[in-house]
Amino acid sequence: MNHHRKYPIRLRINGQDREFAVEPWVTLLDLLRDRAGLTGTKKGCDHGQCGACTVLLDGKRINACLTLAVMHDGHALTTVEGLADGEQLHPLQQAFIDCDAFQCGYCTPGQLCSAAGLIAEGEAKSVDDVRELMSGNLCRCGAYPQITQAIMGVMGIDGTPGEGEKPFTTGPVLA
Ligand code: FES
Ligand code: FES
Repeated sequence: MNHHRKYPIRLRINGQDREFAVEPWVTLLDLLRDRAGLTGTKKGCDHGQCGACTVLLDGKRINACLTLAVMHDGHALTTVEGLADGEQLHPLQQAFIDCDAFQCGYCTPGQLCSAAGLIAEGEAKSVDDVRELMSGNLCRCGAYPQITQAIMGVMGIDGTPGEGEKPFTTGPVLA
């Protein structure tokens, strides 16, 4: 592969066909933000650790910072900009507002796309499942109880917000 050459790719982004000419090293995240003008998808760590860049690729959640745009010719993407139906918010967006599930909001687009992917996967049956399956999305503000509550509400899962919450430690447990 010639690293200076641009390769034509076609993506269906939020229901619209878009064409790009990209160098082979351009990540999907940078394509979305810098070339498609969709800055809703956020760059947190840029190496797969925070989930801020989560989008749906053919309906499945992925970290857009960890994949190259050129690999996805012909595929369909949904970003946070594509979740609402016109003026009508996606149920998850409404639930995040109702539950006060964000503070600075930087992680929120990734949280929303990840939650949409989680619901589509159909694996989560309990509060703990939701927490586990959302564990790839970090929120430095610590809005996790509200985020979990919002997702549970949309899924119709019963459970006390914060149930199963464990003490948070960042390293070796001090004696
Ligand atoms: S920016 Fe992609 S996981 Fe952090
Ligand atoms: S709301 Fe601030 S990082 Fe999540």
